[in-house]
Amino acid sequence: MLGRSPLTCILLVAVATCAVAQHAPPWTEDCRKSTYPPSGPTFRGQVPWYTINLDLPPYKRWHELMVDKAATVKVLVNSLKNVVNAFVPSGKIMQMVDEKLPSMLGNFPGPFEEEMKGIADVTGIPLGVLEWILGKKDAMWIGFITRSVLENSTSYEEAKNILTKTKLLAPAYFILGGNRSGEGCVITRERKDALDVYELAAKQGRWYVVETNYDRWKNPLFLDDRRTPAKMCLNRTTQENISFAALYDVLSTKPVLNKLTVFTTLMDVTRGRYETYLRDCPDPCIGW
Ligand SMILES: *[C@@H]1O[C@H](CO)[C@@H](O)[C@H](O)[C@H]1NC(C)=O
Ligand SMILES: *[C@@H]1O[C@H](CO)[C@@H](O)[C@H](O)[C@H]1NC(C)=O
Ligand SMILES: *[C@@H]1O[C@H](CO)[C@@H](O)[C@H](O)[C@H]1NC(C)=O
Ligand SMILES: *[C@@H]1O[C@H](CO)[C@@H](O)[C@H](O)[C@H]1NC(C)=O
Repeated sequence: MLGRSPLTCILLVAVATCAVAQHAPPWTEDCRKSTYPPSGPTFRGQVPWYTINLDLPPYKRWHELMVDKAATVKVLVNSLKNVVNAFVPSGKIMQMVDEKLPSMLGNFPGPFEEEMKGIADVTGIPLGVLEWILGKKDAMWIGFITRSVLENSTSYEEAKNILTKTKLLAPAYFILGGNRSGEGCVITRERKDALDVYELAAKQGRWYVVETNYDRWKNPLFLDDRRTPAKMCLNRTTQENISFAALYDVLSTKPVLNKLTVFTTLMDVTRGRYETYLRDCPDPCIGW
């Protein structure tokens, strides 16, 4: 507790005492078992699957999906506009974004400019608004860099290099896995470059890395510690026995699973498997 204000200390001690008295806070549970394949009250459903054909010209790639989603995207964009207009009520900002921004901004890299023009034309949302939502040009939007790496990187090292060095719009964590022994890391990013790259160290017995939503050298907030429960559950399995079923058990254990969990995705780079499930966390469950 070095460096914390006395008030925080008192609060933490009080909470810790209460937690010990009850053995564990009510929103935690023992590591779940046999939750996979997903079912029951923590499983809210499958996500729809869409195929984007990258062999089409960039302008056309998103047309089919956007015809389906235009209404939803418009609702989303309008609520963002409303937030902006609530702060600057004259509506002048959004008018400027609609009309002037496209010419003020440069081009997005690679196929993204053309793809967005295609989306703008199908949805009727002005390009300026889309670009304003996605961000400035001198740095990469997280979605763009992820897409570039997934589309064009041909090795773990290359992917790691790009994710470590490309200038970003916002800080982020990248969790990267390769298909060979020892290929796995968590990259903690600032806008300019990486603060930290935390790698597997199979020889020292570290066969997994865990990232919740904290820099790994910082302690999570006491009530938001999902790192320790995740590690505890992972420690009950072994590198040889890790599987989608074992991972889904970990990700189904409160408070790793919590009210803010929207979906759970399992990926296996070697087998080319990718599964996503919508989640729920019925009461009692921590979250906001
Ligand atoms: C991937 O590489 C191809 C060929 O160089 C290029 O046309 C495409 O735009 C790249 N994709 C991305 C997302 O940058
Ligand atoms: C790993 O991926 C690389 C790049 O796609 C591929 O050349 C290699 O055969 C893969 N190795 C294994 C063990 O799957
Ligand atoms: C998990 O196991 C590792 C390696 O044995 C150990 O260092 C770590 O303290 C364990 N963590 C938890 C939360 O049990
Ligand atoms: C790991 O899996 C093997 C084969 O499926 C099984 O025999 C063994 O008991 C498992 N070990 C643990 C620790 O679960």
